[in-house]
Amino acid sequence: MIVQIAEKKPTDHSPVVVKMVKQDDTRGKIITCKAAVAYGPGEPFVVEQVQVHPPQKMEVRIKILFTSICHTDLSAWQGENEAQCAYPRIFGHEASGIVESAGEGVEDLKEGDNVVAIFNGECGECGYCKREETNKCERFGVNPMKKVMVSDGKSRFATVDGRPIYHFLNTSTFSEYTVLDSACVVKLPSATEVDLKKLTLLSCGVSTGVGAAWNTANVSSGSTVAVFGLGAVGLAVAEGARARGASKIIGVDINPDKFIKGQAMGITDFINPRDEKKAVYERIREMTGGGVDYSFECAGIVDVLRDAFLSAHQGWGLTVVLGIHPSPRMLPIHPMELFDGRQIVASVFGGFKGKTQLPHFAKQCMHGVVKLDEFITHELPFEQINKAFELLVSGKSLRCVLHL
Ligand code: APR
Ligand code: ZN
Ligand code: ZN
Repeated sequence: MIVQIAEKKPTDHSPVVVKMVKQDDTRGKIITCKAAVAYGPGEPFVVEQVQVHPPQKMEVRIKILFTSICHTDLSAWQGENEAQCAYPRIFGHEASGIVESAGEGVEDLKEGDNVVAIFNGECGECGYCKREETNKCERFGVNPMKKVMVSDGKSRFATVDGRPIYHFLNTSTFSEYTVLDSACVVKLPSATEVDLKKLTLLSCGVSTGVGAAWNTANVSSGSTVAVFGLGAVGLAVAEGARARGASKIIGVDINPDKFIKGQAMGITDFINPRDEKKAVYERIREMTGGGVDYSFECAGIVDVLRDAFLSAHQGWGLTVVLGIHPSPRMLPIHPMELFDGRQIVASVFGGFKGKTQLPHFAKQCMHGVVKLDEFITHELPFEQINKAFELLVSGKSLRCVLHL
């Protein structure tokens, strides 16, 4: 078991760095600790003691210090697209913490390292990981149905009476301790506690949005951008475009409160589709002399995707899809429309190869290139996880960070 200490010399005024000390040797042993267990879709989480087994070959056990809630946790917990979802289950995929112990064969991570969890792993060895064009990984890609560890098909979590509790998205961070494959753990630069809390957002939302602007679209200085859907993902796109020096960032959302928040992330103009008499894409074309250079769909709605596509400029406009589309409807584009020269592409985890590229991105965030503070709208003790979900359901929070 490890406990956190604040390391600071008496004369030193620099912020505390997160370190750990051993209370007793837990390496190789089962740890009993608290976790938020979901027993069925939409049922309140039960914060209770669980057993966390030691990491096996190429796995790492981490002590979670901060975890936040993303829409994918919400959709999975509510049962959307998750017909075969296994229970009991530990959700959560945005988190930062400290390595408690590393299993056999792990060379890049050791006890005490500051880390973030990533749901889109990077094994470094598969055909995808070896190619520059993709951040997909054959073994540790996104699969919300996966419920056990890849190495042996077993769970590392159990109830105190020994019944298995299933994993989620390679991560399961709603637990004081969790076991991940080392492909899904990114070592951070040594961080203060304040930094570590903010870097939690790199596990998903912020990396997804900023990365879509930087890696997938490669937004350039002076360019024009439209962002459809101003949740944490859309606002992270805006923040990424702002950091790149976009001259105009048009935010589109049916909730006018989002514009107030969005201004801090660089939104320069706001369109509420409900206030418009004409189609949103026509309005955007008027505002930008024919259309934006880049449009981003971050709402997960097929009709919004069509507006995003048509708001991009003929000849070079690029539309990036980030929204998860639960509707069975197909892409709302006629093949002939592609001859107008607009392109459309999707972005997963912002195109970041997590283990290779996130440490540098973390440094950029720590240096203020991307501002993370505005994304954390709420903070609560871990035990209040059900309240944190309510905040997300009601649209009041962008990110609520839970403290373990
Ligand atoms: N037009 C524009 N915006 C809309 C519309 C619409 N018709 N309908 C909803 N929105 C806005 C909502 O008001 C909200 O501000 O889209 C935003 C979506 O934000 P969140 O629900 O907070 O979702 P977020 O976490 O940002 O994720 C966005 O990416 O990861 C996926 O599943 C996720 O599809 C979702 C998307
Ligand atoms: Zn791989
Ligand atoms: Zn997420």
